[in-house]
Amino acid sequence: MRVPIVLIAAALAAAAPVARGQAVPYEVVKDGIPSPLTATTPGAAARGKLLLQQRQQANCLQCHAIKGLNGGSSAPPLDGIGASLTVPQLRLSVVDFSQVAAGRAMPSFHKARGDAAPRLSAQEVEDVVAYLATLRL
Ligand code: HEC
Repeated sequence: MRVPIVLIAAALAAAAPVARGQAVPYEVVKDGIPSPLTATTPGAAARGKLLLQQRQQANCLQCHAIKGLNGGSSAPPLDGIGASLTVPQLRLSVVDFSQVAAGRAMPSFHKARGDAAPRLSAQEVEDVVAYLATLRL
């Protein structure tokens, strides 16, 4: 099921630039997304840290605690996550957690939601992943 969707997404991407507000095409390899979602600008950890603290889009701290930042307790703390997960695994976790484990409270942040834009843009995902990768105990 997954392969045809990726192929269709890749074909559409080749035919036309990704419209604003849509999820960009990406390829899942094993348990992660090895390639950055953005071709040109790498993720910036400082921007990711700010984004992760904002209530509107990401709101990670509603559920997760991170040392030094106020956070919730309904999800595992993210301290040390940069050491326990690889960057490809972190990217898939943020992009679409339903492909990691189904039926969990963790939202899918880069997934089209009908006509609505994904919660985080491709660049925002890269920024958040860059920050998560710095969280080592
Ligand atoms: C509504 C609550 C909620 C929000 C908001 C949320 N998460 Fe989660 N997240 C969870 C839960 C619950 C899990 C554990 C899922 C499971 O059972 O495996 C999780 C799991 C994860 C994992 C995998 C942890 C591991 O040990 O494998 C990562 C990474 C993660 N979240 C990052 C984020 C980031 C980054 C954000 C914000 C962009 C975020 N989460 C927002 C609830 C949330």
